[in-house]
Amino acid sequence: MSIKKLIECDDFVIIYGKKFHYVWLYNNSCVWKSNPLSKGFQLHIKEGSVIPKIPKPLSIKIDEANDEEQLIIEWNEEADQKSIFSISWLLSNAYDPEPELLHDQKVLWDKVWLDEHPQISYDFRAERDLWMNQLSQLGFTLLRNIDFQNLETFAQSIGPLTLYANYDPIMTIKYIPTSVSATDSNNFLRLHTDWSFMESSLLVTIQYCLENSVVGGESILVDGFRVCNDFCQDYPEYGKILSEFPVEFWHFTEPEFEYLFSQKKTIIKQNHKGEVTEICFSDKDCKILVNFNQTEQFYKAYATLSKYIHNPKYYYQYKMQPGDCFLMQNWRIIHGRQSFQPNSGYRELKTLYIDWQYFMASKRFKQHKNLYTPEHWV
Ligand SMILES: [Fe+2]
Repeated sequence: MSIKKLIECDDFVIIYGKKFHYVWLYNNSCVWKSNPLSKGFQLHIKEGSVIPKIPKPLSIKIDEANDEEQLIIEWNEEADQKSIFSISWLLSNAYDPEPELLHDQKVLWDKVWLDEHPQISYDFRAERDLWMNQLSQLGFTLLRNIDFQNLETFAQSIGPLTLYANYDPIMTIKYIPTSVSATDSNNFLRLHTDWSFMESSLLVTIQYCLENSVVGGESILVDGFRVCNDFCQDYPEYGKILSEFPVEFWHFTEPEFEYLFSQKKTIIKQNHKGEVTEICFSDKDCKILVNFNQTEQFYKAYATLSKYIHNPKYYYQYKMQPGDCFLMQNWRIIHGRQSFQPNSGYRELKTLYIDWQYFMASKRFKQHKNLYTPEHWV
């Protein structure tokens, strides 16, 4: 059965099976006249009564012009007002049942899934869309063959590097026997997300391998969304506790910088549909500060989540080679490291961060650059 091109209803029209409200069409038509990309919300609802009147069409039809189907609407609001939409533009901007968000197709993975889908690395010169899509779907990607001298240029081709206090934007991770930091030790590094103590942890962590000739020291990555989904399904009460009661993450910088960062936030963040949208997990920075009655349950919930996170069935374990570079969504991927024998070789990684918004903005710009005009700068 072929789908009907156009069905008129009281408050909306159905075009090739997608519903569009008249008020939406009216509003968007003002933008469409000059450019099909909206610069912002411009509501045109006729005033005159307590409840503004929603525009209605006088006539509505689909015609063909220049080999392209167009929706043509004459409005009864203003005598000479006519709106013309490209049907392909309308369908690509449809919001029925909901707007399609860029990169919303996530794959929640565990070890079994990754074993069945082993292609997770790309040469860093590969088409950016390839690894960007993987980064969006899996929360991480692995790029290979980057020379250290090209690392900063490559990272800055995505976006500006995020600065942490007064540290160098490219930080070094290597074994320092005298250090009290778990990161600089050779012990198993418990799984964590970075920057938990900052307001926004929506960053991409770039972890680069300069050298890794030690015995052990495999990187561990875990899909925090997959773990939290399983955890919340198995222990809904614990999931509720960890998404409702905030903890305090706080962190002293090295003494010469004299900062103490602190943020109150929940360990699990969910959207209105109950989907996990962010996980913030860092034993070393976390202070549990719930009320007396909740404390014991909170500890049980936290310990159970930690047990899930550290279950090898969720691990992607990989020994980084010189020139390898992990890109990880810090609000989703929880990372750590196996212990290593410090005297068996040398291990040095570099870490840098870029705000996720630049990844999205760069991708979006490439998709729409043919529509880019000076009027969009303002
Ligand atoms: Fe880290």
